[in-house]
Amino acid sequence: MSLTPKLGERGRFAKVSFKEWKKGESNTMKTQEIELRDLDSKKFIERKIEDISSAVGDGLAINALSGGVDSSVVTMLAHKALGSKLKSYFIDTGLMRQDEPEQIVSWFKELGVPVEIFDAQKEFFDALEGLTDPEEKREAITQTFYKDVFGRLVKESGAKHLLQGTNYTDIEETVAGVKRQHNILEQLGVDTQEQFGYKVIEPLIELRKPAIREIGRLTGLQEELYQRPPFPGPALAARVIGEITPERVELVRRATVIVEEELCDSGAFQYLAVLHEDRVTGMRDGKRDFGFQIEVRCWDSEDAVTGSPTRLSYDTLEKLADRITNEVGGVVSVTYNITKKPPSTIEVI
Ligand code: XMP
Repeated sequence: MSLTPKLGERGRFAKVSFKEWKKGESNTMKTQEIELRDLDSKKFIERKIEDISSAVGDGLAINALSGGVDSSVVTMLAHKALGSKLKSYFIDTGLMRQDEPEQIVSWFKELGVPVEIFDAQKEFFDALEGLTDPEEKREAITQTFYKDVFGRLVKESGAKHLLQGTNYTDIEETVAGVKRQHNILEQLGVDTQEQFGYKVIEPLIELRKPAIREIGRLTGLQEELYQRPPFPGPALAARVIGEITPERVELVRRATVIVEEELCDSGAFQYLAVLHEDRVTGMRDGKRDFGFQIEVRCWDSEDAVTGSPTRLSYDTLEKLADRITNEVGGVVSVTYNITKKPPSTIEVI
């Protein structure tokens, strides 16, 4: 018998079941995209500030900042619209990159936006324990974020709204049944007011990444922030095949530091390290070592809808393999993905 709980056994909140979603029965695409060429950035910013301000009124709003481009841009829009009526949280899920929580807080401090780190590591690892199926892992992360962590933060603060950086590609992939992106709720039939006690505001839902970067630039974000390579909401959990434990996340975190150092000047859209589930035989100090496998991915893409692996030089690949096997304990194999999206996807989970 499988130890992995089946979907439906974990107190699911979606009105649309996972099976219905996969069959496409809930798939409505109501949002209209605004393409970069049609975007009047100044007007867009003014309209969003007005929308956020009138939705929140005299109340308080909570903002989910992950430090990715999308949530950083939402933070700037919401800060302009709400000032002290906005409470921004960085949720430390235990799944983030090296030193990420402190780095994000310090970037936003420079912009005059206070951000509080909320430690939810135990909650996330408890929710992920024993899960190996990619969609079950995504579902567990979604529930922990929205029901447990934000549900509690909203209740304690008396806020009635949660702001987040959902973008057009996130909805499209979920609706098309490719992946259930962690931040998609309404399109899956989730009434957040009824189920979590708050409304969700998604100012960037009509835009894709290049347009979001442009809005970020105009709102005054630092270039390091609005030009950051995309990073998924489920964070390093999207890059661990098999069970997600603190030890396995730490392996992929250390490999990620190396991949980001080596590829940050590559001009690629996104680059990442993945930890495989299977171990393989290798050798170290003349002895057998049954070790871990890391896969490196590096993507050329415009908007994450399609992508091709960057043609990295062999020297770069060799350096990556040498550094990862020498610096990340227990890794005996490093591979490079050469498959396009589709049929591959950018993340492995
Ligand atoms: P995939 O792996 O579907 O990823 O080709 C497309 C883009 O989306 C990012 N990604 C996510 N972003 N929540 C997010 O906010 C998610 O659940 C999620 N999953 C993938 C991914 O990094 C890539 O840029």
